[in-house]
This record gives sequence, C-alpha cells and structure tokens, in this order.
Amino acid sequence: MGYRVVVVGATGNVGREMLNILAERQFPIDELAVLASRRSLGTEVSFGDKTLTTKDLDTFDFTGWDMALFAVGSEATKVYAPKAAAAGCVVIDNSSLYRYDPAIPLIVPECNPEAIHDYKNKNIIANPNCSTAQMVVALKPLHDRAKIKRVVVSTYQSVSGAGKEGMDELWDQTKAIYNPTTEVPPNKFQKQIAFNVIPQIDVFMEDGSTKEEWKMVVETKKIVDPSIKVTATCVRVPVFVGHSEAVNIEFEEFLDEDEARDILREAPGIMVIDKREPGGYVSPIECAGDFATFISRIRQDSTIENGLNLWCVSDNLRKGAALNAVQIAELLGREVLKKG
Ligand SMILES: NC(=O)c1ccc[n+]([C@@H]2O[C@H](COP(=O)([O-])OP(=O)(O)OC[C@H]3O[C@@H](n4cnc5c(N)ncnc54)[C@H](OP(=O)(O)O)[C@@H]3O)[C@@H](O)[C@H]2O)c1
Repeated sequence: MGYRVVVVGATGNVGREMLNILAERQFPIDELAVLASRRSLGTEVSFGDKTLTTKDLDTFDFTGWDMALFAVGSEATKVYAPKAAAAGCVVIDNSSLYRYDPAIPLIVPECNPEAIHDYKNKNIIANPNCSTAQMVVALKPLHDRAKIKRVVVSTYQSVSGAGKEGMDELWDQTKAIYNPTTEVPPNKFQKQIAFNVIPQIDVFMEDGSTKEEWKMVVETKKIVDPSIKVTATCVRVPVFVGHSEAVNIEFEEFLDEDEARDILREAPGIMVIDKREPGGYVSPIECAGDFATFISRIRQDSTIENGLNLWCVSDNLRKGAALNAVQIAELLGREVLKKG
C-alpha cells in the first residue's frame, strides 16, 4: 500500500524535478495528482515513463490525499496550503511562507529529522531555502564535533533558483549578445545576468543585507543551532543549475582539516571531492542532476584560532528544493504515516 500524493506547481522547475525524484527513488505512490495554474491546464508532464496531465489547483479537492508537495510561490501557497492542510493532507512546502513560523518544522532530514513530529501543529512542514539546505548538510556534522561559533559565507547562485523565467532570461540575453538585433533587458534580475554577476538576491532589508542573506542566517539557526552566528553575501551568477558557496567556519574547538575531511566523508548526503591538484574539486556544472552535496577545498584558516574554509556545491533544484522535499516525504512516511 502506497500514498496518495499531490505535486503542486508541477509545470515549474522544482515541480518537474520533484516528479523526477519521486520516480527515481521509487517513492511508494498509489495515486499521483499533478497541479498547476489554470493557465497550464492540460499541460503534460513526465513521471518516470508515464505522462500525466496537469489539473487546476484552484478547483482541486485535497480530501483523502496523504501529502501535497508544494512548489508554487508564496502567494499561491498562502491561499491553497491551508486548504490542503485543513482537508487532512500534509503539506510539504518549498516557498518561504512558513519557514519562520515557530509552530512549523523546517527540516533538512540529514540535520533535524526529529522535528518531523511537529508537523501535527499545522499539518504543514517547511523546506528551507536552496542556499541554506546545502550549507547546513555540511555544517551539521562539523558542529556536532567541534561546535561552530560563526560562519561567513559567499554564495554563487544559479539562475534556476529564480524559476523558469530566470533560466529563460539568461538564455535569451546570452543569445542576444551574439545577435545584437534583439534586446533582452533585465526583467527577472536587477541587472544583465549574461556574462555578469549580481550581488543581490531577493529584496533589500533595513540593515543593508538582502532577504536571501537574512534567510541563510535565520534558517541555519532554526535547523542546526540558534547559537551559530552567520553572515552571508548572496550573489547571482550566470550558471543554469547548481549553487556554489565559499564557506568560512570558526569553531569553539580546534578541528584539523584531515579530521574534518573524514567527518564529511562519513556524513549523510555529502560527497567529498578534494584533491589538491588542478580540477580536483567540484564545480556546479558537474553537480547538476546529482543527489549529493559536494564538498571540496577543505583547508585550515590560519588567520583565526579554530577556522576552516570549504567549497560547497549542490544542485539547487534537487537538494535545494525537490530532493529535500521528497526526503521529508520519505521521513514522514517512515516515522508517521507508515504506509508503503
Ligand atoms: N528554484 C529553486 O532553486 C528553489 C529552491 C527552493 C525553493 N524554491 C521555491 O519553490 C517554489 C517554486 O519555484 P520554481 O523555481 O519551481 O518556480 P517556477 O519554475 O516559476 O514554477 C512555478 C510553478 O508554480 C505554479 N503556479 C504559480 N502560480 C500559481 C497559481 N496561482 N496557482 C497554481 N499554480 C501556480 C506554476 O504553474 P504555471 O506553469 O501554470 O504558471 C509553476 O508550476 C517557489 O516558492 C520558490 O521560491 C525554489
């Protein structure tokens, strides 16, 4: 016996990846509904070797469905997630709407699986921001060994993090540079993204940081430990898929780089590729389509007493969104619903 599962936002970047991952991981499904807006009613999406037709979220009845994996923006989530939850269907949400609600668990299964039981509070579970998810997978096992005091992170985030419109903008602007008769002005991004980098993701906050940077701070505290201080600079780069992060970590205790490498090698969800030779590290193009978070360039930071640097790369549509959501669904199934 399997689950009755709904994928909401099935025509989007994250929704399509959720369908791929549910199929790849052979999630026990009895029935699957795929939903999007009325605009794409009848659009076909792939699920393994099957083709499914999208239905309209607005008229869908969630009664009798076990779980709904939401991958629509916060506005649509605000309207439809409470309806699903009230109908008894557990919502696993990718938007930022519920992440900071103390009653709603924010889960990365490698870090805080025990939080799953708090789903009962509102029948909703939140999935973290893509840049947070991959970083905390690396931080948690190191924190368990040497207690992290402070993290300084700079991100290099791909355009797929801004949805399918973000990918189209990079593609169209790149083509327009070679064919200057067409002009593709910035729309999804604040400046030209082709052949450029943009030090702004999401809106500005009062203190001069951006909301994406704020999310990394607050979510790391909620998932790993409220005592960890985080300062982030989030940058959009002209990469289609795969976020990269340069992470500097200060610990309470000394942690040798070799021991850190061994800890990370053993940690769930992580693949260490760290050869000190040209190309002996992972770049985003190599992580696209993979489940793992890749860690490279692990080295002591000799400018502080107990410091390490590392390079962290992951497929933002997978660990940063769809994979993590499916892992939460698996955890929910294993620990709570117990079917399948
Ligand atoms: N991309 C990432 O790396 C990433 C990472 C973490 C979290 N997220 C979050 O995941 C969510 C989806 O992101 P995405 O990148 O997949 O976006 P996307 O590619 O733009 O796709 C958006 C999806 O939402 C649907 N949708 C939008 N408004 C709707 C409405 N009113 N009713 C029904 N369906 C509606 C769209 O359907 P139509 O095709 O019918 O318009 C489409 O299926 C967002 O909340 C985003 O912040 C994304």
